[in-house]
Formats: sequence, C-alpha cells, structure tokens
Amino acid sequence: MTKPNLLSGMQPSAGSLHLGNYLGALVNWASMQDAYNAFYCIVDLHAITVPQDPAELRANTRRTAAQYIAAGIDTDKSALFVQSHVPAHAQLAWVLQCITGMGEAGRMTQFKDKTQKNGVDSASVGLYTYPILQAADILLYQPKAVPVGEDQRQHIELTRDLAIRFNSRFGDTFVVPEAAIQKENAKIYDLQNPTAKMSKSGDPKGLVNIMDDNATIVKKFKSAVTDTDGEIRFDREAKPGVSNLLSLFSAMTGRSIEDLVGQYAGGGYGALKGDLAEAAVAAIEPIRTRAEELLADAAQLDAILADGAARANEVAEATLAKVYDRVGFIAAR
Ligand code: AMP
Ligand code: TRP
Repeated sequence: MTKPNLLSGMQPSAGSLHLGNYLGALVNWASMQDAYNAFYCIVDLHAITVPQDPAELRANTRRTAAQYIAAGIDTDKSALFVQSHVPAHAQLAWVLQCITGMGEAGRMTQFKDKTQKNGVDSASVGLYTYPILQAADILLYQPKAVPVGEDQRQHIELTRDLAIRFNSRFGDTFVVPEAAIQKENAKIYDLQNPTAKMSKSGDPKGLVNIMDDNATIVKKFKSAVTDTDGEIRFDREAKPGVSNLLSLFSAMTGRSIEDLVGQYAGGGYGALKGDLAEAAVAAIEPIRTRAEELLADAAQLDAILADGAARANEVAEATLAKVYDRVGFIAAR
C-alpha cells in the first residue's frame, strides 16, 4: 500500500533553531516519516516577506537544512527541499490568489499581528498574501496531514477553503488536507519569562538554541526564572517556571513528570536545574555536532537539497499541470 503524503514547512529566518522548534515540531516530524511519504520544505520565499540580508538568508537556509537533518529528518525517507528550487510554489500561489477574496485574506491574524507595531502601510504585499503561498506549498503535494503548531491553524483552514473552492469550481483536483496540530503540552516556554512561549524574538537569555555551545546551554538553564517557595510540583498557573523546567526535562528524557517530581521534591531548584542542564546538553550536543559536520561540506549539503528538490518537483509539476489545464490555460509545448 502506498503511504499518504505529508507536507510541512519552516522559515529559514534564524541561524539556529531553538528548543521550542525542536521539541514542539521537529521531534514530531521525525516520528511521522515512517507512516507518511513526507515533504519538508524550507520556505525561503516566505522569509523575504520581511526584509532579509541576502548573505544571511543564504547561510540560514543551509543552517536550517543541516539542523533538520541532524535532528532526525532522514533524507532517504523524506524529501527535504528549498521552496525556491520548486517554481510551482510561486506559480500555484498566483492561481490561488485569483480565487481568494480580499476580505478573506484580510482576516488572517498573523498579518494583523505582524503589522501591529509598524502599521499596514510599511508591510509588503507579499506579507499580506503569505497565507496563500502557504496554501500553494501544501496543495501541490496532495497531503493528507500537515503537522504544524496551533498558531498555524487559521492558515490551514484557509488552505482547506481554497482547495474545496477550486475543486467545486473546476472539478476534483486537490486533496483537502487536515491540520495535525501538536498538543498544548508540546509548548515550550521562555526560561526567563515562563508565561511567554520560547521564541527567537523573546529574551535571548531565556532562549535555548540548538547551535549554542554547552557552557551557554548550562548557564541558561541555571539562571532560569523560578519562584521563591522552593517547592517542586507541576502547576502551570501558580508555578510556571518550575512547571516549564519539568516539562522540558520530561520531553528531553522521556521520563514522566510524576517520576521527576518524585525524585526532586524537597531537593531545591538547584539540583533540578543542574540535572536538567546536563540532560539538555546530552540531547543537543550530538545534534549540533552533526549539523556542524554537514555545514562544513556545503557541496554535499547542496546535493542533498538538490535531490529533495528533484523529488518535490516531480510531484509539484504534476499537480500544477492539472491546475493549469483545469483553469483553461493551453498546454505549453
Ligand atoms: P517558528 O519558529 O515560529 O516559525 O515555528 C516553527 C515550528 O516550531 C512551528 O511548528 C511551531 O509551532 C513550533 N514552535 C515554535 N516555538 C515553539 C514553542 N515555544 N513551543 C513549541 N513549539 C514551538
Ligand atoms: N507559516 C509557517 C510558519 O510560520 C511556515 C510554513 C510555510 C508552512 N509554508 C508552510 C507550514 C506549509 C506548514 C505547511 O511556521
């Protein structure tokens, strides 16, 4: 039996992934590779919806790819590719833009959030149409599942709406995909501000990066914000800092929260933080080392991405050809 397809994407917008990306998304992506025919796309076209330094964008695209491979994306099983290497993404996005309403696009909350600070007038049109390009990323691969974080739910809803609309207007063309949303307990919080989610735009001291050296990782855990009552128990409301440390510890070692509370209750925060820092280094160091090895051979890494793009192009071109035919374009010779 052939496996169902799966697609997800990530922006190459930083030099390092952080623990939230790793535990909240990547571990899950790696675990889905056996049950699905997976396509993982590094979305450089999306990255330029906000200004990027060209040299940095190029470096971050390779760094993102290297970290995904190092953290468990198996490029024999899954296609790992760069969005701009598959022209059909931009081509299908145009067709989908032409069946999307202005009002419909205007209701996307990510655009509203991202333009809140500086106003709509300084945003690019590309940022406005960002979710439609995302819909194209997805629909080209006819995936059954799209693993994403909760924040992407609205974009997947739009994707489904566009697929249903296209199918009913032009005849069955797209599989209508399902969002595979990670559970809330997969959410990792900032170590300095444990009620905010860990994010590259947060406090650098509260952000643990995959590419951080060991001493930096240990230091960040040791200075994590807790509270003053000294009690070790899981209570997200009353004790967000300690609870975040416990769920990080659990996520990184596979041990249950109860088991950890049993061991550390009464021991003070110092021991918990020290052992957690050690567990984090044990989990992260091999990923960083492997990523650095991959980055040291850019030609080999580019060859892996070229192979992924070839596999992606084959599927994407077939879908695009069908779409072009359905909307009434004459076939190019
Ligand atoms: P981003 O870096 O926001 O583009 O996110 C890339 C992926 O990592 C998405 O699937 C997010 O849902 C996930 N992610 C980002 N931050 C966190 C976090 N603090 N906890 C859990 N998952 C996260
Ligand atoms: N918008 C997604 C994010 O910010 C990234 C993304 C682009 C994506 N295209 C996609 C995610 C297609 C899933 C499927 O995280």
